[in-house]
Amino acid sequence: MPRRLHLNAFENFSPGNIASGLWQHPQDDSRAYRSLTYWTRLARDLEAAGFDAIFLADVLGVLDVYKGGPDEALRTASQVPIGDPLTLVSAMAAVTERLGFAVTSSVSYTHPYTFARSLASLDHLSGGRVGWNIVTSYLDSAARNLGRGEQLAHDERYDLGDEFLEVTHKLWELSWDADAAVVDKERGVYVDPELVRPIGHEGRYFSVPDEFLAEPSPQRTPVLFQAGSSSRGQRFAAEHAEGVFVHGTRPEVLAPIVANVRSAAEAAGRARESVRVLAVATIVTGETDEIARAKFADLQRYADYGGAMVQFAGPVGVDVADLDPDIPLTDIASNGAQFSAKFFASADPDRTWTLREVAEYMAVGGMGPTIVGSGATVADELERWAEVADLDGFNLAYAVRPGTFDDIIRYVVPELRRRGVLPEREHGARTLREALFGDGEPALKADHPHWRIAL
Ligand SMILES: Cc1cc2nc3c(=O)[nH]c(=O)nc-3n(C[C@H](O)[C@H](O)[C@H](O)COP(=O)(O)O)c2cc1C
Repeated sequence: MPRRLHLNAFENFSPGNIASGLWQHPQDDSRAYRSLTYWTRLARDLEAAGFDAIFLADVLGVLDVYKGGPDEALRTASQVPIGDPLTLVSAMAAVTERLGFAVTSSVSYTHPYTFARSLASLDHLSGGRVGWNIVTSYLDSAARNLGRGEQLAHDERYDLGDEFLEVTHKLWELSWDADAAVVDKERGVYVDPELVRPIGHEGRYFSVPDEFLAEPSPQRTPVLFQAGSSSRGQRFAAEHAEGVFVHGTRPEVLAPIVANVRSAAEAAGRARESVRVLAVATIVTGETDEIARAKFADLQRYADYGGAMVQFAGPVGVDVADLDPDIPLTDIASNGAQFSAKFFASADPDRTWTLREVAEYMAVGGMGPTIVGSGATVADELERWAEVADLDGFNLAYAVRPGTFDDIIRYVVPELRRRGVLPEREHGARTLREALFGDGEPALKADHPHWRIAL
């Protein structure tokens, strides 16, 4: 049996995600990110192609570390301007029936009481197709503008995240019984008050004494995704995540990371396969390998060194503008995300990277691989990555819009179908959790650690 691959599209409500400068490409129409028709067309196309979900990244501050201010991020459209990804979901849900929507939201700057209601609302309206990419945030600019002054320390942000998820679990799963809304017109009872209870949460960061506002939605808990790569981040994933999002330059580098994620889940009392692991990748494809290589060379002409450095320096929290781009990169410790600096330091044990090499590497595919070739070549690579690293699938980023996803759908999807790793087009509604686990069960799995939480 070939290994089934899950595909997500990795998007954001902005003219720029992980590729840098490619909005300048003559065939790029990222300016259309502001129109609903861009999103509804994309959602329909992805659904028809058999994607599980569209995965929406987000940040709550300008990536203003590089060159000590916002100018370079603004100039290069590096994740700014950016809109609220939650606002895209209803429109895309209205034109699809089985595509999921995984939305990034930070535990540091939202309140679990209101956030749980937003996601329950979208889960109702989409028929259970919502996921949440749980992030802790790493930008001082977000902390400054959201009234925190300074960010909490790296590991404490995860402590706060643990409590946030305790509160949302109580709200989504424990406050209302499934049949609480009896809607009995004869007795004049809409909700049976006996079947709704206050959650009585009193913790270090949050106080939520009362009952949830929304009634149970098809999945109750949205599918929980997470992408932290520090050891504290991985512990957090083991306790909470059903999908983990990883990135690496080679599958051999990812293999031990994926094994760790699964072992940590096991140590938390879960099945190893209860966590779906997806790697970020960018695909450049065409009719032949030669055509794809020419497309890649053309894309590289529009790459922007400054934009790549904005994306590198933001998460690391260190301004690398004054560093010589041609000296080897050594480990940079910071209170920000620890991943970028260490990532490139350890990405390839046989190689030391310079900043310029990092920028060149990141410009098209960010910190994941850029896979270039015909449909068959790309399918070979995706299967190899999945096999070597024990992956369940990929979050596929774009280089240009809408060309990258159009090309994947045209050249790679038919090849994956032919090989039996992507199912034939299916019809009928399904929840995102059913798409991910394929077992017809929309509820949070019985071995999920959240079930240890009690009122
Ligand atoms: C592939 C990938 C995608 C991410 N996407 C986002 C994002 O959209 N928004 C965000 O604020 N953080 C994002 N992050 C950052 C992580 O969620 C996390 O907050 C960060 O990596 C710091 O945690 P760590 O030190 O445990 O890695 C992403 C990280 C990775 C590895």
